[in-house]
Amino acid sequence: MYHEETLTVSFDYESFDDYEMLAARFGVQQPEDGTNYRTKDRRKPKRKSPQQEVAELADTPNALEEDFRISYTPARYEAIWLKESLQPFFTQALLEDVLALVKGGKEANVYLCKATPTMPTPYIAAKVYRPRQFRNLRNDKMYREGRELLSGLGIPIKNQDNREMRAVRKKTTFGAELTHISWLMHEYVTLERLFGLGAAVPAPLGAGENAILMAFVGDRYRPAPVLHGVTLPPAEARRLFEVVLHNIDLMLQYGMIHGDLSAYNILYWEGAVTLIDFPQVTLSESNHNAFRIFQRDVRRVCEYFASQGVSSDPQRLATEMWAKHVRLAPDRTVQDRE
Ligand SMILES: Nc1ncnc2c1ncn2[C@@H]1O[C@H](COP(=O)(O)OP(=O)(O)OP(=O)(O)O)[C@@H](O)[C@H]1O
Ligand SMILES: [Mg+2]
Repeated sequence: MYHEETLTVSFDYESFDDYEMLAARFGVQQPEDGTNYRTKDRRKPKRKSPQQEVAELADTPNALEEDFRISYTPARYEAIWLKESLQPFFTQALLEDVLALVKGGKEANVYLCKATPTMPTPYIAAKVYRPRQFRNLRNDKMYREGRELLSGLGIPIKNQDNREMRAVRKKTTFGAELTHISWLMHEYVTLERLFGLGAAVPAPLGAGENAILMAFVGDRYRPAPVLHGVTLPPAEARRLFEVVLHNIDLMLQYGMIHGDLSAYNILYWEGAVTLIDFPQVTLSESNHNAFRIFQRDVRRVCEYFASQGVSSDPQRLATEMWAKHVRLAPDRTVQDRE
């Protein structure tokens, strides 16, 4: 079930600039033939840069073993990225090993990891965000409205005039880095909050600048499938539909909308569902699109359950939940009222 040996993530270097950025950040060499990429002054005698040396090291099998010994065999580019993102968790003695790649997604790769004995679960899912420039970013602008910029510690950066906010507004490289960290921290902080509220989400177990750790759903040999590929017996479908609706309702009660909920972001394991993938969570009272986003979440969930024989009226469900929990009419925000 797991991709033990092969790399399923692919970096789409569509432009030379992207490649160059990757090279700069991860210390990899440009391809020698230079066919697909613009090469810089090739006539200069080449002295090995520290980056090149790192790249060559990364090319050598087991080069990373010195201080980052893992069972999973990453590909060359992935190795450096993985080490940079996960090493802090090894140092903090949260992780003992990386066992397999579970899935390469649009924004992140999820790995099955072995936890240290001090951790509450034997296996951990590490969601490692791709280097910013190689992610297919969702159009995150719609979701960001009304959300605070979060620091790497998950603390809101409030002062509008400070260096960080200016960098984000001006879209500098530093600003993009902050936006990236904020996006990831939103996912982690949301997980913590929802887990604390008793929602069906994986237990949050650690956060770094480029990765978050959470309880792994599945076992050593098989990750939990997403609901999308699962056929449920009718009684089970009805029961799980109610559980998912309860979780949507609970989130809305506390002002949160998943924002990308569908049968692709719900795991199914041993009769239970687990909601995942929260970076785009939206606040019901601070975003002008909140109701639309909420309706879409409810509709997509209803569509899956309809395919399993549970019919419902998504429009009515969404409107009722909204009326129960949100003080504002759809498309109004607290700011409009002030
Ligand atoms: N806690 C977990 N336990 C087991 N598997 C998980 C866990 N979290 C994520 N996964 C797996 O990794 C996949 C990607 O995770 P997630 O949806 O959070 O990232 P993503 O980058 O948004 O991916 P996608 O583009 O597929 O939506 C999930 O579809 C699921 O198969
Ligand atoms: Mg997902």
